[in-house]
Amino acid sequence: MSPFALTRTLPLDATAAALRADVATGLTRSPKELPPKWFYDARGSELFDEITLLPEYYPTRAEREILVARAGEIAAATGARTLVELGSGSSDKTRHLIGALTALDHYVPVDVSESALTGAARTLLAEHPALTVHALVADFQYGLTLPGTPGPRLLAFLGGTIGNLRPAERAVFLAAVRAELAPGDALLLGTDLVKDERTLVAAYDDAAGVTAAFNKNVLAVINRELEADFDPADFDHVALWDTEREWIEMRLRARTALVAKVPALDLAVHFAAGEELRTEISAKFRREGVRAELAAAGFELSRWWTDEAGRFALSLSVPVSLPV
Ligand code: AVJ
Repeated sequence: MSPFALTRTLPLDATAAALRADVATGLTRSPKELPPKWFYDARGSELFDEITLLPEYYPTRAEREILVARAGEIAAATGARTLVELGSGSSDKTRHLIGALTALDHYVPVDVSESALTGAARTLLAEHPALTVHALVADFQYGLTLPGTPGPRLLAFLGGTIGNLRPAERAVFLAAVRAELAPGDALLLGTDLVKDERTLVAAYDDAAGVTAAFNKNVLAVINRELEADFDPADFDHVALWDTEREWIEMRLRARTALVAKVPALDLAVHFAAGEELRTEISAKFRREGVRAELAAAGFELSRWWTDEAGRFALSLSVPVSLPV
């Protein structure tokens, strides 16, 4: 068997159609909004990797600290033969887990970015030649169908990416994940935690401007894919903390009144001066909230670990029957 397979559950034309639909609806409604998944073309994935190295962006380092400290416990608790990783990106932090999971023989990275998947698979296979890697180009927000790899399966969703979903979307997503898991399987979930506003906002508005470039990259994606004529310089990067909903919002704010053309959609998008386009929410969590959301989806929280500074949490849960 080939040690590397790449499956697109999301055909290229479906990706293109989804982008068209999201731009058509998101840029004609008020307030304007786009889903964050469109950041991640090859350039956007590179910029995100740069973000993870910024002094202000603590989540990646905090989560890695937990993974390094707890990989042995995770391995002992799960005995996983298959590791499924949603939103795997560069799979950088995953190496700690893969190294510790002694029974592991299958790795299934799932991501919307094919460039990130192939790059990550190459590096991982060089380090773990006995591993079978089955990469999935997929948008797991629209259902999840995993390859029939051997159990027990550990499904990891790291980085705090679950925070990109709204509460109702998280409920649907967690239920879909639950439906893919059998007794003996487990879910490893990374969640960024609520903390002081200064630290949170700085993490999404760094001094070097990398997050601003990442945010504006979505305009470059629309320009390239839909022949649009957005000028990223016409927009300011905005990051703010919503105290009530406990999430960070990233927005692009038009510096002046402007019109951008999107010929592929036969669309002219009007911005008033100061008008904002929301590009991302990144929810932050508390332990009780995570426990409750997991329970509602049919999971029991079995372990909860944070980094020393208490900024980020990794939780391990097991499938249970849903409460009636
Ligand atoms: C990859 C979704 C976890 O929300 O912190 C980083 C993306 N956006 N800086 C996050 C992101 C701006 C990141 N996630």
